[in-house]
Formats: sequence, structure tokens, C-alpha cells
Amino acid sequence: MSILSRFSTPPGATCGVLQVPRKVGFYQFAPEFGAVSKNLSRVLAALSGADADIIVLPELPFTGYYFQDRSELATLAEDPATSPTLSALVQLCRENDFHLVTGFAEKAQGKLFNSALLINGEGILQTYRKLHLFNTESDYFDPGDRPLQVSQVDGIQIGLMVCYDWAFPEVARSLALQGADLICHPSNLVLPWCQQAMLTRCMENGLFAVTANRTGPDARPRGTLTFTGQSQIAGPKGRLLHRASTEEEGLFITRIDLAQARDKNVTPLSHLLKDRRPEFYSRLKSR
Ligand code: ACM
Repeated sequence: MSILSRFSTPPGATCGVLQVPRKVGFYQFAPEFGAVSKNLSRVLAALSGADADIIVLPELPFTGYYFQDRSELATLAEDPATSPTLSALVQLCRENDFHLVTGFAEKAQGKLFNSALLINGEGILQTYRKLHLFNTESDYFDPGDRPLQVSQVDGIQIGLMVCYDWAFPEVARSLALQGADLICHPSNLVLPWCQQAMLTRCMENGLFAVTANRTGPDARPRGTLTFTGQSQIAGPKGRLLHRASTEEEGLFITRIDLAQARDKNVTPLSHLLKDRRPEFYSRLKSR
């Protein structure tokens, strides 16, 4: 396991009104397509002993991303209720007293979802099913069927989204309106725009976001996709706290001050959420 770097609050620095900084991070690595137990072993080894409150893994970190077809996905996806992968992750959380947000190829009620799970040592706290499927994903995944929601974990309000959801500002805004302090964002990015856009998502909603991307290629029958790393942690005011490189693998953890996400004022008189004019946004609700 490599800790890429750590940030600690300087002596005497205030941590804001909530007084407790939270340790959040991501694990960036290159999963091998189809090698579920090998990928799981890598994650277990890398995260074991980590000192964190919440760690975010990439999208589909155990199966790989670029499925040939729905039947291939069906052989690799798992039902969370019986998944040995999920059991091992829950045990990892229990042994290390942290929460995990992980991408997950989810089999449920005869459907296959590109999901993100928020888990702790007891089990699943929230399941999010990707709403905006990217490119060929709709050939094999079913579109998400659940409303966006926020879960409280040790005083942190956590919202989930997956990769291409970044391109729909309504997602981050919906989570912000439900009180999200932190968006956990498992990703398998191939385009170059997300990281910069997430700084804007954080600025316009006054919250933190951990984008956990993967590295390396999926060389598959449909072609080769190369994933772009640069996982990052961003915060209110569009501040970049850390961005990994394109290819490095490792665990990065930093501290965030939740009070910064609870203050939505950009000037004493200007408030990111209260100043909205939804009565003029009716087109947002039509197709
Ligand atoms: C993506 O949504 N995996 C680009």
C-alpha cells in the first residue's frame, strides 16, 4: 500500500464550527478485467490499516469496465445479498473502522445496474444506481431506478454519483439541496473534462467531492479503453485539495473541514442555494 501523501491540520488551526475534521480519500488503481478475486485482494491489501473515515474506490473496480455484452456482465455481476466481494469489503470496514464507497456491478431483481454502494462494518447504508449511462453502457446495464439521496455517516452528509453523472449538474445540485457535504464519485473516466468540471460542481454547490478514477486499459472485444487516473479531492470555492497523476496507483487520504460545506454564502448577502429561482427552471423537468 502506498500513501501518496497526507495532509494534517497545522497546530492551532481551527477546524471550523463542527470542530472535527474528517479524513477522506480514494484508492486509484488498474483493475484487471474479469479478475474479481484478484482485484478484491489488491483492494483489501491496499486499504488494510488505513486511517480514514471514508475511502472511495473507482467505478466497477472488481469486474472491470468494458463488457462485451449483457451475458458477460451477468456472469460477473453480483447480488449484494449473497456477494462474497461485498462480505469481504464489509469485513474490511469492520476491522479498520472506516466507511467505503465502492463501484459495484449489481445484480438485482433480474436487472443489472452500474451501482455505487456506501458501506460500513455492518453492511450497506446506501445503494445508488447510475442514472446517466455512458456510451455503450446501455447495451448491457439497466438505467438507475432510484432517486438521488443523501446518507448521514458520523455527522457527514454523503451523496453518491457515478462517473458520467458529472456532466449533469442537476445531480450534484439535487444532492446539495438534500444537504450533502461530500459527494463520493466512483469513476472510470476516458474523457478529459470531468476533473475540471468537478471543481465547478464543488464551487456552485459549496461542497466537497472525491472523484476516484481508475488507471490502465481494458483491452476487450469492442476495443481498448484507457482510463485517465487523476483522481481528485475538491472542495467548496472550487478548491483542488489533491489530484493524483494519470498512472500512479495508491491510496490518498486528506482531511476536510465540514464547516466549509455548511457555509453556502459566497458573500454575506449571496447564498448558493437560497438565491436560486426554480420558478424559472421549469424546463429542467421536461425531456
Ligand atoms: C463513464 O461514465 N464511465 C465515463
